[in-house]
Amino acid sequence: MVAMDKSSRRKLEKISSRKVVDIPAGRKSVVLGVTGSIAAYKSAELASLLVKQGHEVFAVMTHDATEFIAPLTLQTLSKNPVMTSFFDEKESWRPGHIELADRANLLLIAPATAHIIAELAHGLAGHPLAAIALTTRAPILMAPAMNGKMWGHPATQENVQKLKAHGVEFIGPEEGMLACGYEGLGRLWKVDEIAFRAEFLLTRHDKLIA
Ligand SMILES: Cc1cc2nc3c(=O)[nH]c(=O)nc-3n(C[C@H](O)[C@H](O)[C@H](O)COP(=O)(O)O)c2cc1C
Repeated sequence: MVAMDKSSRRKLEKISSRKVVDIPAGRKSVVLGVTGSIAAYKSAELASLLVKQGHEVFAVMTHDATEFIAPLTLQTLSKNPVMTSFFDEKESWRPGHIELADRANLLLIAPATAHIIAELAHGLAGHPLAAIALTTRAPILMAPAMNGKMWGHPATQENVQKLKAHGVEFIGPEEGMLACGYEGLGRLWKVDEIAFRAEFLLTRHDKLIA
């Protein structure tokens, strides 16, 4: 056995006493954007999973999303008011969409239509969800769901690449039977795996080497 001098031993003791610690993540705020896809009903399960994971969930729906799932469902599951219009914001002097954008630790858009992908790629801000995406500095995770031809169209793919270059992360879509009757790449990614990825993005800064 090689004899160790005092200072090397001290250095080794110092390193071996370090450990990976989980700093309690606390309650994080997730803005859950829901858009007008047939998969919008799955956002209810997602809201529920995120709440069970201990997070505060604020659903923001596009006008068309409300044709697919009632705001009341998301309001009940998230235990928070649901924003569907700029003109919901009458309670405070401070615009609610800016408050949500600043408060968000993650903006998760699931399902994300071809339309919202195009809007965000072009920096449009015509409704609260698009405005929040433009304002927030939190990570953005998008889970697309659409017809396979829409997803494969060069316009959509260019928009996705543009958003990725801005740091937006995409999860899915996956291949399978689509609601439109076609089979292809366009199904919303599995909801529990979206929640898992969201959890990773929310807590990655809490895992530090102490
Ligand atoms: C029954 C039905 C299902 C739809 N499903 C999708 C879909 O899965 N993905 C998509 O991109 N658009 C879908 N659309 C079209 C969108 O609703 C439409 O592009 C809408 O303008 C999207 O608006 P939003 O992104 O503001 O919610 C569907 C439309 C209908 C009528």
